[in-house]
Amino acid sequence: MFDLLIKDANLPDGRSGVDIAVSNGRFEAIAPGIDGEALRVVEAAGRLVTPPFIDPHFHMDATLSLGNPRLNRSGTLLEGIALWGELKPQLTHEAVVERALRYCDLAVSQGLLSIRSHVDVCDDRLLAVDALLEVREKVKAYIDLQLVAFPQDGLFRSAGAEKNLMRALDKGVDVVGGIPHFERTMQEGAASVQRLCEIAAERGLPVDMHCDETDDPQSRHIETLTAETVRLGLQGRVAGSHLTSMHSMDNYYVSKLIPLMAEAQIHAIPNPLINITLQGRHDTYPKRRGMTRVPELLAAGINVSLGQDCCMDPWYSLGNADMLEVAHMAVHVAQMTSVNAMKQAFDAITVNSARAIGLDDYGIEKGRPANCVVLQARDPVEAIRLRATRLAVIRNGEVIAETGPRMATLSLPDRPGTIDAADYAPVEAAPGAP
Ligand code: FE2
Repeated sequence: MFDLLIKDANLPDGRSGVDIAVSNGRFEAIAPGIDGEALRVVEAAGRLVTPPFIDPHFHMDATLSLGNPRLNRSGTLLEGIALWGELKPQLTHEAVVERALRYCDLAVSQGLLSIRSHVDVCDDRLLAVDALLEVREKVKAYIDLQLVAFPQDGLFRSAGAEKNLMRALDKGVDVVGGIPHFERTMQEGAASVQRLCEIAAERGLPVDMHCDETDDPQSRHIETLTAETVRLGLQGRVAGSHLTSMHSMDNYYVSKLIPLMAEAQIHAIPNPLINITLQGRHDTYPKRRGMTRVPELLAAGINVSLGQDCCMDPWYSLGNADMLEVAHMAVHVAQMTSVNAMKQAFDAITVNSARAIGLDDYGIEKGRPANCVVLQARDPVEAIRLRATRLAVIRNGEVIAETGPRMATLSLPDRPGTIDAADYAPVEAAPGAP
């Protein structure tokens, strides 16, 4: 007797007609036509069953604070940082915990079960750090929450930031963060990268830095991050988030930089929703898109995952904990419209993100924790196209969220009475058609 049996699933790797059996919270068998009773049966009926979505870059201390104390009028990163600075002294522990827990509810409903969140350490009280450590514990049964010690106002630019960052790490924050492009000078930015990587090496921690989130092509802190990674032997443990200046860099320089990033095994984490809105704000026309060079990074073998970054906060007034929306935006901004590129975008919010944040035991494989999501779509491309409904979200073999399928009732003469968006397969192309 299985605890759970998912019938007739499609998997992201293209397998179809697969049954998935779960016992004791783990995948027990993945094969066509599994016989046996189960306490609960989920009929996937040819829909896609994917490992859960992962958000490798988020700010949970700020989420759901939109409009408090006011809205971002310019829509720029710098006004967002200033606005967060106005809100910070007014934060209370209870309010940060409550907003984060509410966000986690939404995340679960969207099949988003692993989140790496930066947490601002430029506050002598470390109020947000304590609040999110509490949240990490409260949600651990259903969300893997990793925290990054993030000196939002600059490691050197903000008095006491290094001391507070060390205190946050002592309290159990998981990852070392940074923001070199916000330091006062290029030299101090580079020095901050060096210092933060040394702290990570001394403590045996990963690094995930906001790096070059600017349209300034001279912002080259990714070069220093890459060099420090190699110097300190941190290959595979370092992520560069945003990397938007790469959009504006000279092509010749990038042709040298990308192989160095590959050599250092840097994880690149673009955030397409926020970067398409924040970048290019100082341009008239032509107006730059400002997202980093995703197809070129992928072509060089660099692990690219996609983050949401913000949801209803001083930087971004939209968002819905929907990683398919993130992938959808990436497909458009990076012009990743080939079938293969769209599949890569799906990987970027699932398996690539798992690698970036060092998640062990991720994926629908025998013996691994039974974490998966049944989507109202048949394959990864359709999932992105539809930002598909999460019919069932499963954690350790338990269904923890369900949403009814999106169906419309039509009242039209001589037309179907109902339509399911996921039944709209493209018309078969004629043989030999382009
Ligand atoms: Fe961020």
